[in-house]
Amino acid sequence: MIDRALAVALAQRALKHLHEGTTDQAQDVMRVPVSDYLDEGLWHDEVDRVFKRVPLMAALTAELPGPGDYKALDLMGVPVLLSRGRDGEARAFLNVCRHRGAQLCPAGTGTRHRFRCPYHAWVYDDRGALVAVHRPGTFGEVDAAEFGLRPLPVAERYGFVWVRLSGDEPLDLDAWIGEEYGEELAQLDLGSWHVYEQRELPGPGWKVAYDGYLENYHVQALHRTTFAPTNTSNLMVVDAFGPHQRILYPSKSLAALKDQPQSEWDPAEHCGAVYTFFPNVSMAGTWDGHAVVSQILPGETPERSRTIQTVLTREPCESEAERCYMAEFSELLRRGVLEEDYRTGAQVQAALGSTANTHFTFGRNELALQHHHRYLKRALTLEPGEPELRLRHLVDTAPTAD
Ligand code: FES
Ligand SMILES: [Fe+2]
Repeated sequence: MIDRALAVALAQRALKHLHEGTTDQAQDVMRVPVSDYLDEGLWHDEVDRVFKRVPLMAALTAELPGPGDYKALDLMGVPVLLSRGRDGEARAFLNVCRHRGAQLCPAGTGTRHRFRCPYHAWVYDDRGALVAVHRPGTFGEVDAAEFGLRPLPVAERYGFVWVRLSGDEPLDLDAWIGEEYGEELAQLDLGSWHVYEQRELPGPGWKVAYDGYLENYHVQALHRTTFAPTNTSNLMVVDAFGPHQRILYPSKSLAALKDQPQSEWDPAEHCGAVYTFFPNVSMAGTWDGHAVVSQILPGETPERSRTIQTVLTREPCESEAERCYMAEFSELLRRGVLEEDYRTGAQVQAALGSTANTHFTFGRNELALQHHHRYLKRALTLEPGEPELRLRHLVDTAPTAD
């Protein structure tokens, strides 16, 4: 759990809004051209110039906690293999055999110290080194040192494994996340949490899908039976850390704090904190010991995305009561996102070309959405080869409204 004084200060800001019927706001409304959601060239630029150039969260530490644990996944057409060696270090490689390019293992997680290619049985170890060539006497000379798996820049921090899909320079995650945000994330201790369930949800274009994670203005109308019974709507406490944001979505039970002395407050009970990682991750929950991490990835076309939704618990889920609670929590998230957010998102996506709107309007109350889109725009202006860390600088000096 984060520092108590910070949690109390955030709960105080939320409580004030609750009393006054207000929310954090941007200076102005912001207009984004609908063509930004439709333009195929822009979508390719977002994939190539943003997603493939910034540190991307690829897995949770909890998905590959022990030596020999691995995860294989596709990130926008790039086959990635994460492997934790016997030395405990998480490494990342292209999941592609160096002989004639077969993918070494299918998407998923497991435990292996050896990866045997399904095509001609070359074998790699958990550090990506080529350790065996099938029938070497017939194949000819192979210098194993030159045929290791292609490594990707990787870092493991705050309970996540991060990769960058282009470039060779080391991944400076501390600089990307920043000191203040990093300290808070470290306090959550997510590296020791446990995966309860993971699923992949098909959704509309990645921007339509991700926009819905950045505001709770829609909770009352869209999530009437799922999230609205317990969560406030249109009440956000937002803080930005470079391109990343912490958004507090308080529970309705927050009102109870009014009658309690502050020394007795338990902010975790009344505040849902969402931590975002630019450009595509939202992590909700965490303060009260259960969480959902959503990785929104561009799909095969601009109209489609895929979301890896991972439900986590701080403690292993052992008792029957906990299992029941988590089953309900997990199902609520699946249903709320797939049947409400993404069903509506699919309708938005289908009507983008209707010409009803030339622009979408982000309200002053949708300030996290504004911040994200402003950053995305800046990220697209980086020249190829320009280090992604410039992005922090660009955003730090970005004006607050366009
Ligand atoms: S492609 Fe992997 S061994 Fe031939
Ligand atoms: Fe939603």
